Amino acid sequence: MSATNILSETVLNLAESATLKMSQMARDLRAQGHDVISLSIGEPDFDTPELVREAAKTALDEGYTHYTPVPGLMDLRKAICTKLKRDNDLDFTPANIVVSNGAKQTIFNICQALINEGDEVIIFTPYWVSYIEIVRMAGGVPVIVTADVTKDYKVDPADVSNAITDRTKFVLFSSPSNPTGSVYTRGELGEIANAIALHDHVYIVSDEIYEHIVFDGVHESIAQFENVRDRTIVVNGMSKGFAMTGWRLGYMAAPEFIAKACTKIQGQVTSGASAFGQKAAATALLEDPIMTKGMMHQFLARREYMIGQLKEIDGMQLSIPEGAFYIFPDVSNFYGKSYEGQAINNSAELAESLLEHAHVAVVAGAAFGAPKCIRISYAASEEQLEKACARLKDYFGKMV
Ligand SMILES: Cc1ncc(COP(=O)(O)O)c(C=O)c1O
Repeated sequence: MSATNILSETVLNLAESATLKMSQMARDLRAQGHDVISLSIGEPDFDTPELVREAAKTALDEGYTHYTPVPGLMDLRKAICTKLKRDNDLDFTPANIVVSNGAKQTIFNICQALINEGDEVIIFTPYWVSYIEIVRMAGGVPVIVTADVTKDYKVDPADVSNAITDRTKFVLFSSPSNPTGSVYTRGELGEIANAIALHDHVYIVSDEIYEHIVFDGVHESIAQFENVRDRTIVVNGMSKGFAMTGWRLGYMAAPEFIAKACTKIQGQVTSGASAFGQKAAATALLEDPIMTKGMMHQFLARREYMIGQLKEIDGMQLSIPEGAFYIFPDVSNFYGKSYEGQAINNSAELAESLLEHAHVAVVAGAAFGAPKCIRISYAASEEQLEKACARLKDYFGKMV
């Protein structure tokens, strides 16, 4: 039997995470001695706040080194309910909460719990790379509702309505959005809720993991609307707002029967998340959310800088991201041009050429369902960003 014959169709049909792949390519090039600037990564470059690190150390000393209940320690689930009330005015009890090894696992659990073969999941596009593959792994069929740069990457509620069929299980989106940085306003979310509310078999999975990184306006949750409240699953986590990517802690707030179903799945796969990490997460969530503001202000300063610089590149179409830490320019004006004799026809070729010649790693938009774009993360130091912008300007300036 050949090596590929033994592999399942699931894995053979699975796309590799484009963001992780690009980060690896950047690391490889760096290992060869090149000065590569990675703007491909989806994680804050800050350290976890000291208070949270100290809480983990205390928890270790207090013996939080054992298995936890599968849906999470009661302390943490209560803290999540407090946070959801305080920040989002949402009423949940610990029975609605499941803590997982990152929001990625949370979304995986939800898909495994809700999707039957052939069920449809409506995904707002540009989307976070993993949505499509996690839905497919569960046997689901992603249905794309697209928004482009001219609409600030926000979907038209009528398009959402038109995409709903009898097979639709749920609508999945993130606000603030990875990769576009768009943040839906209360009014916009209300209209989307109205479009979905008419179809009582359709649920909503609202990924709010970038909640604490909003520059313009405020973060709003679609779960606040009464007409969809009972059918909304809120996904959130510690990775982005608290600079805790490596801790692997995410959570969901869902109707109790869905929380139970996800607990059942998680109980056969990973069990509860790490005990001392959960104690630290509870400390973080119970702290005044002002704790997250320092990072947010630094991201805002970087956004201003990056937008100013990228605007100077002729042909790049920008939308101003209102949150998260990504810029998602439409670069299709450069397709058909070439760099040092090498033709560039799509986002993958552009990202590879940028890495090879400018030593700047970005991610091709195709991976996010937006082949006209590239994703530039500005979760990097000011010094790195300055260097990267100089290289990008030089690169695009030389395209003919
Ligand atoms: C939109 C979105 N959702 C979920 C996640 C997963 O976060 P984690 O698994 O680190 O909690 C990410 C990470 O990049 C993301 O960008």
